Amino acid sequence: MSNREQTRPVALEAYDSMAEAYAAAIEENPRSIYYERPAMLGLLPEVSGRRILDAGCGPGVVMGWLAARGADVVGVDASANMLRFARQRLGETAVLHEADLEQPMPFLADSSFDVVLSSGTLGYVRDWLALFREFHRVLRSPGCVVFSVGHPCSDYTLNDTDDYFSTELRKYTWRGLGAPIVVPCYRRPFSHMIDPIVRAGFSVERMVEPVPTEEFAEVKPEEYAQLIRRPRVLCMRARKAANAV
Ligand SMILES: C[S@@+](CC[C@H](N)C(=O)[O-])C[C@H]1O[C@@H](n2cnc3c(N)ncnc32)[C@H](O)[C@@H]1O
Repeated sequence: MSNREQTRPVALEAYDSMAEAYAAAIEENPRSIYYERPAMLGLLPEVSGRRILDAGCGPGVVMGWLAARGADVVGVDASANMLRFARQRLGETAVLHEADLEQPMPFLADSSFDVVLSSGTLGYVRDWLALFREFHRVLRSPGCVVFSVGHPCSDYTLNDTDDYFSTELRKYTWRGLGAPIVVPCYRRPFSHMIDPIVRAGFSVERMVEPVPTEEFAEVKPEEYAQLIRRPRVLCMRARKAANAV
């Protein structure tokens, strides 16, 4: 079966059902504010005056941050419930599209963005080659993609898997947002991240394996002690070649 056939996004049900709890928790979540987000936002170029696509925008926290700094931001997410919270946060004029990142996005014009940003979402997309080709199409040259994703080392060691080299759908149980919820997500080897990015016409410009900030140690010392030694997140900036069309 082709990945481009219409299928339901693997994590849609999970995100639709946890949207309210996620939206309420994300602004205070230490893993986000003292770990993943500073590293990922640190990879962004100057955002003022830039047109930015947030791919998997969720409840729009990063979109709000970008808009407050003068960016013109468009959000895409598969979850209507998540988008409802983004709408509440960002107001009626925000441009939000309910769409699956596994599918083409004809509602986005060619060469119309300076940056594509994607925080914690690409693990839910199986076909990175098709997705990065789509990012390449909508980016101006020399635009960039900045994203964060589960670290391939920790995703591998945390899972009971005997085949590092395959991309496989795993199920994770989240316990931090009320009742436990099963969230399906793809685990993939490092080469299955880099190869599609390069084949789609990008060069990897920066890669960061974040460590938590000191504030994290104050609020969650045990988790800090783990994260300072074991990677859980990988952040990258990939650049569309300057002469690409
Ligand atoms: C971990 S949340 C991240 C949300 C937001 N970027 C943030 O940092 O708060 C992942 C988001 O990806 C969205 N998502 C998952 N699979 C998707 C898909 N195939 N297409 C579009 N969005 C998807 C979910 O609905 C959810 O809002």
